[in-house]
Amino acid sequence: MTRKCLSTILVLLHIPCALLAQSTTNTLVVHADAAKDTISRYIYGQFSEHLGRCIYGGIWVGDNSSIPNTRGIRNDVVAALKNIRVPSLRWPGGCFADEYHWKDGIGPRAERPKMVNSNWGGVTEDNSFGTHEFMDLCEQLGCEPVICGNIGSGTVKEMSEWVQYLTSGGDNPMTALRKKNGREKPWKVKFWGVGNETWGCGGIMSADHYANELGRYSFFLKNYGDNALYKIASGGPSEDYSWTETLMKKWKRSDGWLQGYMSGYSLHFYTVNDWNKKGSATDFAENDWFTTVSKTLEMDTLVTKHSAVMDKYDAQRRIGLIVDEWGNWFDVEPGTNPGFLYQQNTLRDAMIAAVNLNIFHKHCDRVKMASIAQMVNVLQAMLLTRGKEIVLTPTYYVFKMYSVHQDAALLPIDLQCESYATGTESIPAISASASRDRDGRIHISLANLNPSKAQDLRCELKGATGVRVTGEIITAATMNACNDFGKPEAVKIRSFTGAQLRSGTLTVSIPAKSIVTLEVN
Ligand code: AHR
Repeated sequence: MTRKCLSTILVLLHIPCALLAQSTTNTLVVHADAAKDTISRYIYGQFSEHLGRCIYGGIWVGDNSSIPNTRGIRNDVVAALKNIRVPSLRWPGGCFADEYHWKDGIGPRAERPKMVNSNWGGVTEDNSFGTHEFMDLCEQLGCEPVICGNIGSGTVKEMSEWVQYLTSGGDNPMTALRKKNGREKPWKVKFWGVGNETWGCGGIMSADHYANELGRYSFFLKNYGDNALYKIASGGPSEDYSWTETLMKKWKRSDGWLQGYMSGYSLHFYTVNDWNKKGSATDFAENDWFTTVSKTLEMDTLVTKHSAVMDKYDAQRRIGLIVDEWGNWFDVEPGTNPGFLYQQNTLRDAMIAAVNLNIFHKHCDRVKMASIAQMVNVLQAMLLTRGKEIVLTPTYYVFKMYSVHQDAALLPIDLQCESYATGTESIPAISASASRDRDGRIHISLANLNPSKAQDLRCELKGATGVRVTGEIITAATMNACNDFGKPEAVKIRSFTGAQLRSGTLTVSIPAKSIVTLEVN
């Protein structure tokens, strides 16, 4: 008997079709009585590099601009980002960080020297967005700065003076310089990257060489007053576990007398199937959708394997795994500067964001921070801008819908679900995670990776006594639906009514290619 036939009979017998959901093979057990770890809000961090139109045009327009701004920073961009509660912002790169000399970006703007951004399009920048402007942006957003220092072409002196300039209130040359530039009080800066991709654009170093450099630089990055730095070491290429081993070994050896030489360890992983043929962000077929989603699931393997190496030296998980660059990387939009990495953002990007956030939640005992690349106009962006106009992308809406998980207690889950297969390959059709917030509300996020088949799910809430379920959904008619300038939004959050809660059991029908977040009270 076919499913359609069965449902026809059920209708004739006046049996609700919702019961069909109970015959499904998809089951989720949420262990609401076994919360242990917290999902750090910093998992929802962002990355803003001097790359293309991320900073210039996307964030910074200058205080003479006709685009509404506060001290040169776009008001519309700040307002949109405040709505998703950005917890942290990484800057100034990326590859750019290792050719950035911070003293060129302070003092009167008209007197700042120009520089050539050799990594990204070879364009000349006027350094009008520098340290004070970045710290102002963080204050406007209410987020923590994450500064990445220059190891590749900088010096220990230069980096240590930057820390002093930013965080010291004492009697010293850098504090005096900061005051001269108009900022009396020191800022608080906790997160500090000691180099970026030091195996590549950060200086083409070996793991051993970098481990020594890390020690040398870190030692001279001082804590001033009560400002305690959380130093993030550069990881190796995504799958280089021996790099992780080298740094962790050194950390273990130096632990004790060289406290704080490394507090976090960085992992970068972009969802790209073939670096020579990345493919269009918007013009794709189901096999591309499948490839992208399968590729992104490798994040789980990477985090698991790097964590296992870290566990050997740090069983108590004191060192955070910091995924400070992740996201989709597609071909640039036709006609745009290839060095500017400007790409559109579709429902597929929303799916990739949801899957990765679910993975980070699952590993939140080790993953303490992540920064999606990048915040505005670059790669998998939250926002796209064109002159005065602004677009909120599908990825933005996932960050908004998922913000309920920030600083919530992770609820362990057991998910049994059917596969989504094409050809000989298959992946789980559902990605999920659950948490309980400080007010006791349970949130369950479910992503149906299958673009053409809805999934019925039966969910048991162990140790919870919820009586009411509400929900939100992000989906669209087509896989490549996107939001564009001057058009109504095709992808956004809508309310969801496909979940029922009876006697502690939830039944949910998750539409094809959709992301749902349920709230159980
Ligand atoms: O995000 C774009 C670039 O990707 C960053 O500058 C670099 O760190 C990475 O390779």
